[in-house]
Amino acid sequence: MNSPIQSHTSRSDEEDFSAEYPRHKHPAIRVVMMPRDTNALGTIFGGVILSEIDLAAAIEAHRYHSGRIATVAMDTIEFKRPVFVGDLVSFFTETTRVGTTSVTVKVSVWAQRRFGSHVRVPVTEASVTMVAVGEDGQKMPLERREPVDID
Ligand SMILES: CC(C)(COP(=O)(O)OP(=O)(O)OC[C@H]1O[C@@H](n2cnc3c(N)ncnc32)[C@H](O)[C@@H]1OP(=O)(O)O)[C@@H](O)C(=O)NCCC(=O)NCCS
Repeated sequence: MNSPIQSHTSRSDEEDFSAEYPRHKHPAIRVVMMPRDTNALGTIFGGVILSEIDLAAAIEAHRYHSGRIATVAMDTIEFKRPVFVGDLVSFFTETTRVGTTSVTVKVSVWAQRRFGSHVRVPVTEASVTMVAVGEDGQKMPLERREPVDID
């Protein structure tokens, strides 16, 4: 029985970090991982998570700038725990720096195991810097230094 899904359901002894889960915050993105998102090992492909981190950071950065923004940097990213098919994955964002042309966003990624279980674990986090750019692709000043809600 080597199916990754079956091995996942047997992980009932996994440590639960629910006490540290940022339940008072609204995630920028929540998504249930599907079989199409897996790598050759049957766990979720790191690139899928990176793509969502990039999107989550962009959503946060657009609170400071409604025009074009581009990712200029992602810091070292450590995948602390695997993500499995059926996990409900939440991407929480927090602005850590507002510069002249850029916003730096910390993205914290949590997996709720097997969509509907009570086990929540932090799987990775990253710091992403997004730069406001004009039509010509060159950097430009942010529209504002205080965020607006874009709900
Ligand atoms: C974004 C881009 C226009 C910036 O050009 P630039 O004129 O060289 O910009 P600078 O080096 O002056 O930096 C601009 C801002 O980004 C920040 N920045 C640049 N490199 C950074 C890095 N490695 N880490 C963190 N912040 C960085 C700078 O601190 C500056 O912020 P501030 O104005 O708020 O202080 C250019 O790098 C670019 O086009 N990159 C490609 C973006 C892209 O296509 N992303 C998608 C990935 S495929």
